[in-house]
Amino acid sequence: MVKFKPRFFMLPFATTSHHIDQITDGIAGQGYVIVPGFLPDTFIQALRNEALTLQEAGKLQRATIGKAENNQLDNKVRGDLIHWLDHADASPVQQEFSAIMETLRESLNRHLFLGLFELENHFAIYPPGAIYNKHLDQFRGNEERQVSCILYLNEDWKEEYGGQLRLYLDGKEPEPYIDTVPLGGTLVAFLSGKFWHEVLPASQPRISLTGWFRKRGSSLS
Ligand code: OGA
Ligand code: MN
Repeated sequence: MVKFKPRFFMLPFATTSHHIDQITDGIAGQGYVIVPGFLPDTFIQALRNEALTLQEAGKLQRATIGKAENNQLDNKVRGDLIHWLDHADASPVQQEFSAIMETLRESLNRHLFLGLFELENHFAIYPPGAIYNKHLDQFRGNEERQVSCILYLNEDWKEEYGGQLRLYLDGKEPEPYIDTVPLGGTLVAFLSGKFWHEVLPASQPRISLTGWFRKRGSSLS
């Protein structure tokens, strides 16, 4: 029997499609884009509750660094806890999020010819003090990750809590950079192979839903 999962949020088409255009234009133009209020508070709240429920159930794991074959844990490099989303077992709000991101994927492919074929994403919770050192989202020798998308799920975040995403605009150079405060509902997207970035420490737990649009790898294995 087909399991019917209702969609709860049904965003107004015009709002979402405006944001999709804004993101596509930003990526095509400067390679990155910051969109405050990408999704309404009710939607963000539902996603945040899922992240927190998973955490309470012990379903978040320490994130590792590097490729699967030599995974490492190192708090000085990366201190967040993550939970990969399972598309086959997605909640209604996750399904609706996937539908929105699918529209974005098609728009990016249509305008930028990136050949994106899927989105992989995980919830991430940074405990107070945790960081993610300056890095690129493409691992060496693997260019599958093309566009990084980070959606912040924090409630009532204040600038003094810290936890900014620092996006470097000139390769590995320390300047110039842009800081984004992880306010709930803000989405940051950028070309994964181009922008070095880091997560600054925060005084409060910092929650996000982070994903990467991937193109197919060059090997057929
Ligand atoms: C990542 C990352 C940034 C953020 O997970 O690769 O860079 O602001 N996250 O959470
Ligand atoms: Mn990253």
